[in-house]
Amino acid sequence: SGVEQLGDMIAQASSIVPFTGAGISTESGIPDFRSPGGLWSRNQPIPFDEFVARQDARDEAWRRRFAMEHTFAKAKPGRGHRALASLYRVGKVPAVITQNIDNLHQMSGFAEPDVVELHGNTTYARCIGCGKRHELDWVREWFHRTGHAPHCTACDEPVKTATVSFGQSMPPQAMRRATELAQHCDLFIAIGSSLVVWPAAGFPMLAKECGAKLVIINNEPTEQDEIADLVIRHDIGETLGPFVGN
Ligand code: OAD
Ligand code: ZN
Repeated sequence: SGVEQLGDMIAQASSIVPFTGAGISTESGIPDFRSPGGLWSRNQPIPFDEFVARQDARDEAWRRRFAMEHTFAKAKPGRGHRALASLYRVGKVPAVITQNIDNLHQMSGFAEPDVVELHGNTTYARCIGCGKRHELDWVREWFHRTGHAPHCTACDEPVKTATVSFGQSMPPQAMRRATELAQHCDLFIAIGSSLVVWPAAGFPMLAKECGAKLVIINNEPTEQDEIADLVIRHDIGETLGPFVGN
């Protein structure tokens, strides 16, 4: 079966780079974006230029974030996260590349610098002017007191979750590290991503071009199934559960 073949490929590989999307976190209670009932079926994304230009867009962005607060705050790593952390602990996985913003790879045991976050992190905030980090407790207090999105205490520019919105530039350091990881691994495993959002979706292809084997684990077809060496169209927790170690 696919899972047995995956086990063989993992055993034979010496450097495995996992690349994760929202599907790895649905087991943790966080909805994905493009499944029926996913976040983009309920809300249109707020593009970065609108966040910059309009107070009501900023207020709406923070309203949505705090509506999700309980979901993010109570989420714990699932079997997928834990399996990857096990492979990291034994030295098979140097780092994880993720499109996720939920901090669950860090919570599962990856050291901070070994979680390559292409789309940032929603568990804290940053000023879009000077880049100063702000904690969510501070934002929440401001938001509840004024009913509006906060402005930076250092430079007065708007403060946003530390995530990458559509139209916002990609974090250069994460892009560089992800590129190196994709170029130098011998097995690349795309997990729980529809692989439609670029430039993130370019990494499976890059790894393949640089000689890695490519595995895609997702419960529905993805954009890049044709170029994969193995496609496992199945639940992530079920598929990776056997790889959870101690
Ligand atoms: P998507 O919602 O596009 O894709 C998630 C995929 O995971 C879907 O194909 C689901 O069918 C699949 N899936 C969900 N739960 C699963 C499970 N338990 N087992 C197996 N498969 C499962 O999410 P991403 O590809 O991560 O960007 O989306 C990419 C980017 O689009 C996100 O990072 C976000 C979004 O706009 C930004 O916000 C910048
Ligand atoms: Zn600032």
